[in-house]
Amino acid sequence: MDLQGAVTVVTGGASGIGAALCRRFAAEGARVVVVVDVDLDGAAQVAAQVGADHPATTVVAEQLDVTDGDATTALVDRLVAGHGAVDLFCANAGIATGTGVDAPPQVWQRAWDVNVMGHVHAARALLPHWLARGQGYLVTTASAAGLLTMVGDAPYSATKHAAVGLAEWLSITYGDRGVTVSCLCPQGVRTPMLFGTGDGTASPDDGASLAAETVKAQGVLEPDEVAAAVVAAVRTGQFLVLPHPEVADYEAARATQRERWLAGMRRLAARVAGR
Ligand SMILES: NC(=O)c1ccc[n+]([C@@H]2O[C@H](COP(=O)([O-])OP(=O)(O)OC[C@H]3O[C@@H](n4cnc5c(N)ncnc54)[C@H](O)[C@@H]3O)[C@@H](O)[C@H]2O)c1
Repeated sequence: MDLQGAVTVVTGGASGIGAALCRRFAAEGARVVVVVDVDLDGAAQVAAQVGADHPATTVVAEQLDVTDGDATTALVDRLVAGHGAVDLFCANAGIATGTGVDAPPQVWQRAWDVNVMGHVHAARALLPHWLARGQGYLVTTASAAGLLTMVGDAPYSATKHAAVGLAEWLSITYGDRGVTVSCLCPQGVRTPMLFGTGDGTASPDDGASLAAETVKAQGVLEPDEVAAAVVAAVRTGQFLVLPHPEVADYEAARATQRERWLAGMRRLAARVAGR
C-alpha cells in the first residue's frame, strides 16, 4: 500500500508507538491522519504537533475508548463519510498489567477488552466498508509477548497471543477479498508503557517493574524505529512486523524445541523474580 494520499487512523495515538505512527504517516504524505485516544488532550497535542510539521496533511484528534464497540463503529462511519474512506487503520491502543494469574477478574477483563476486543471492534466497524470497496488495510499492534511470553504479566501474555490469533484469522478470512492485515510484534520500545511514566504506580521492586527491566535488558527500540518497520511492512503487505528481527529466531525455537524453550524461560522468570 502507498501511504501517499491515504486516510490513516491510529488508536493509542496520543503516546509512544501510536504517536510515532502518526508522525511517520504524515511524513509519508498521508492525506489524513486521525489521532485517536481515550486521552483526548494527549491526542490533541500530538495532532497539533504533527499538523504543524506537515501542513499538507489534515491531522485531527478524536476521543475513543477502544473497548466501546458502538463508539468505534460510529467513529469509523463518521470518518468514512467525512474523508471518503479509511485506507489504513492501526488498532494500536494496548495496556500492560504487571500481574499474574491471581490478578482480579476486572484486571483480566480490562486487558481482554482493550488488547483483544479493541481489535475486534475495529474489524467489525471497518469490514463492511472495506469489503464493499474491495480494499482496506488493518495493522494490529500485538507484541513479541503474543508470539513468546511476557515474564511477569499473565493477562498481557494471554491477550497478546489472542491478538496475534485474531490478526491471523482476519488475514486468512479476508486476505483474498482486498483486506490486508499486518500484526506488529515488537519487544521493548522506549514508551511510557515500558518506562513507567504512564500512571506512575510502578515501584522499583514490584513484579511489573522487574518484568519491565527484563524487557529493557533485551534491547529497546525508539518508537520512530518501530513506525519505520510498520511503513516498510505496509508497503509490501507483509503480515508479521518484527522490529526486533531476533524474535523470529525465538519464535522458531519455541515452535521446534518447546520443552527447551520453556526451560529457558523458566530460568529467565526465576532471575526476574530474584530466585
Ligand atoms: N512499549 C513496548 O515495549 C511495547 C512492546 C510491544 C508491544 N507494545 C504495544 O504497543 C502498543 C502501544 O503501546 P506503547 O508502548 O506506545 O504504550 P503507551 O502507554 O505509550 O501508549 C498507549 C496509548 O494507548 C492509549 N489507550 C490505552 N487504553 C486505551 C483505550 N481503552 N482506548 C483508547 N486508547 C487507549 C493510552 O491512552 C496511550 O496513549 C500497545 O498495544 C502495547 O501493548 C508495546
